[in-house]
Amino acid sequence: MEALGEHGPSMEGIEVGGLRIELFHLYVIYQGTAPFKGARFPRGNRGLLLVLPPRIRHNASEWEVAMAPGVLTNYHTHCYLDDGSNKPEEYVRTAIASGMRALGFSCHAPLPFPQDWVLTKENLPVYIREVSGLKRQYADQIEIYLGLEVDYIPELAGPQSQSMRSLRLDYTIGSVHFVGGEENDIHLAVDGPPEEYLEAIQEGYGGDVKRLVRDYYRLVREMVAEQTPDIVGHLDVIKKNNPGGRYFDERDAWYRDEIMMTLESLAASGAILEMNTGGLARKRTDAPYPSPWIVSEARRYGIPMNVNSDAHSPEHLVHWFGEAKELLKSAGYREQLVLLGGKWQMTEL
Ligand SMILES: [Fe+2]
Repeated sequence: MEALGEHGPSMEGIEVGGLRIELFHLYVIYQGTAPFKGARFPRGNRGLLLVLPPRIRHNASEWEVAMAPGVLTNYHTHCYLDDGSNKPEEYVRTAIASGMRALGFSCHAPLPFPQDWVLTKENLPVYIREVSGLKRQYADQIEIYLGLEVDYIPELAGPQSQSMRSLRLDYTIGSVHFVGGEENDIHLAVDGPPEEYLEAIQEGYGGDVKRLVRDYYRLVREMVAEQTPDIVGHLDVIKKNNPGGRYFDERDAWYRDEIMMTLESLAASGAILEMNTGGLARKRTDAPYPSPWIVSEARRYGIPMNVNSDAHSPEHLVHWFGEAKELLKSAGYREQLVLLGGKWQMTEL
């Protein structure tokens, strides 16, 4: 096994325990406590230093887990108390089985008007109790964090509202799910069923989708500037009801301008932009939030990102994570900003 380390980065592949590893990445495997002497990554190499404890060297199924680069985390998780399914503990068990290092729960915070997909005021303490209990119960196996996905609705709700701050959450995800219409006095969902979206365009914006989309991004910018959350949720969720460019084209100059302005305020705020794979898991989009071209622009603005699944059921907890990380890498990201050991820190993708 130690002979493996004698191969340099020019080698094309190795076979370990019957498992073929193609070396477009460089893998260095060592035994004992010191890294293999002379192992170096040449400049520009997309290499990955893979350190394996002896116990998993020959077990192919564990190899697969061990070979997933970077630390596995997810901070966007719902449950049976809002519009997700299953008890929080089932997510925790799935996360542990996936080799996840940290799992954050982020049910939808209660709203000041009735909606069936958010926590009720009565369920909020139940949620806090359940997640806090799991945090203690599984402390030796996984880091669990208590968060909420908080809607931004001007004057009514936001991640930095007094009621949210009083909960002493570990973190918040700030999301815009409603626009207010041009009269600004109604709450029109932008990510609901297609007929609701159409209704929002017609009743709130006189049939002009461009005005609705602009209003959505204006609210995201307002949220980021005035109620900065730790993570900005599903930045371009407005595309959920736009399959095949039915209502607007992301390549249009006006749309790009909205995105650029929004990224600019995000960069100024220091908030994290999530790559959210939930639309893909639920087959509502054919790309993650945000779209790949937006990820590239976010990179140019130096905006930190992390990968989240927006899981509404345990089986979606790490859906599309491998692809998401590759996408981030192809946009130039090398790290993601994650909550570990109680503080936000950069870890290798
Ligand atoms: Fe959401």
